[in-house]
Amino acid sequence: MEKNICSKTIKGERYSPLYIENDKDVHGIYYFGDILDVLEALLPKYEGQIQLIYMDPPFFTGQVFKYQQRVGKMGWEGDRDKIISHIAYIDKYDRKEFFSTMEEIFLYTYRLLSVDGSLYVHIDYRTSAYIKIMLDNIFGEENFLNEIIWHYKSGGRAKKHFSRKHDNILFYRKSDKYYFNMETIGIPRGLDRRNNMKKDVDEDGRVYWSIKSAGKEYRYYADDKIYPSDVWDDIPHLHQKNPERTGYDTQKPEALLERIVLASSRPGDVVADFFAGSGTTLAVAQNNGRNWIGVDNSLFSLHTCRRRLIPSANFNKIEFFYYDGADDGNIIVVESNITDKLTSDKNNYILCLSDFVDDAATVDFWGVGYVKGDIYNGLNYSMRTPDSPELSMTLALNICEKGSICVQIIDVYGVQVFYKEKET
Ligand SMILES: C[S@@+](CC[C@H](N)C(=O)[O-])C[C@H]1O[C@@H](n2cnc3c(N)ncnc32)[C@H](O)[C@@H]1O
Repeated sequence: MEKNICSKTIKGERYSPLYIENDKDVHGIYYFGDILDVLEALLPKYEGQIQLIYMDPPFFTGQVFKYQQRVGKMGWEGDRDKIISHIAYIDKYDRKEFFSTMEEIFLYTYRLLSVDGSLYVHIDYRTSAYIKIMLDNIFGEENFLNEIIWHYKSGGRAKKHFSRKHDNILFYRKSDKYYFNMETIGIPRGLDRRNNMKKDVDEDGRVYWSIKSAGKEYRYYADDKIYPSDVWDDIPHLHQKNPERTGYDTQKPEALLERIVLASSRPGDVVADFFAGSGTTLAVAQNNGRNWIGVDNSLFSLHTCRRRLIPSANFNKIEFFYYDGADDGNIIVVESNITDKLTSDKNNYILCLSDFVDDAATVDFWGVGYVKGDIYNGLNYSMRTPDSPELSMTLALNICEKGSICVQIIDVYGVQVFYKEKET
């Protein structure tokens, strides 16, 4: 498990401010590293344990995808001039290498899934035929359940062929013992007008449409549930102003992942996303009481997931582990005399951001905690959001014997610095 975790002083972050151990707690672990390194390390612990794996790998587009970082108070208030565009990931691969890597990932995936588990692979026309054959070979054709078509109406029309307006999601089970609960994803039929039918209200006040055929009346109640088929055209792409948007290109809507997570896992199960990106699957899993595992090698995925998952953690424990090679020199550990800069009251140390940075406008997130055993345990933080674009300039840190005091600062350039109390 430890094999590929990098050897610098800090190997990861853990946030558990409200975490109380009991068997209902859910737990999230994000691995910041190359997928193949991480999967090899996950196997001894999770073989046959993961209920649901969703993955949305690069689509083999030949494009560069960005992360839009809002800068300072004005950036978070919506000023479009105060945005820095970072490269989130580069989707350019050698063809042979791309497919052989995908095959290796699917071989690990098969082993990691539990006997009642399922896999959903989100791709498009560029790779779907090749990946379908690969998965048929690994999972067995009999375990292929659906090719879900996610149809959306985004702008842009092609002139030389029909416009491409769908993605493909291949759905496989590990075995015929797989768990699938359609009841959780029913949608009320609604009040939409129905041609040739009559609208009425029954004796219990329920609205229905009815039609008579061969002397028999058929009723369709507005509050009856209907269940999605394999064509999903009711979930729109995230438009530019959607509040769900994190600034990470290729972010998928939570509604799409909700349908998958609710149908193919139970509360308390382990849900994994091996190309986590902005953390959509992880957020949906966390909000629905599932444990989660995320993997990605983009620094801006790590940053976005941290921002997205920590505020909604509630009673969850969240951990981020860094693997060798993924940090790209952007994670820096500085030994510092923090105790010289502290004030304290009875229960707390008070730390000031201005003691660590000259220009707070360049800071996007900062936190305070303790380092123990190479893990930073974050106990308090402040980050900019549209609702709260200003940072707290001071943070209180509960006084306790939890290791060396540490301040974590993440700036708008993607650099994250840990100021760690010098060990004496
Ligand atoms: C299409 S995006 C996933 C988007 C995600 N579903 C969401 O809703 O935000 C693909 C992700 O794969 C990650 N990725 C690409 N190659 C990787 C590798 N070798 N190891 C880990 N992650 C990788 C990229 O950094 C990117 O975040």
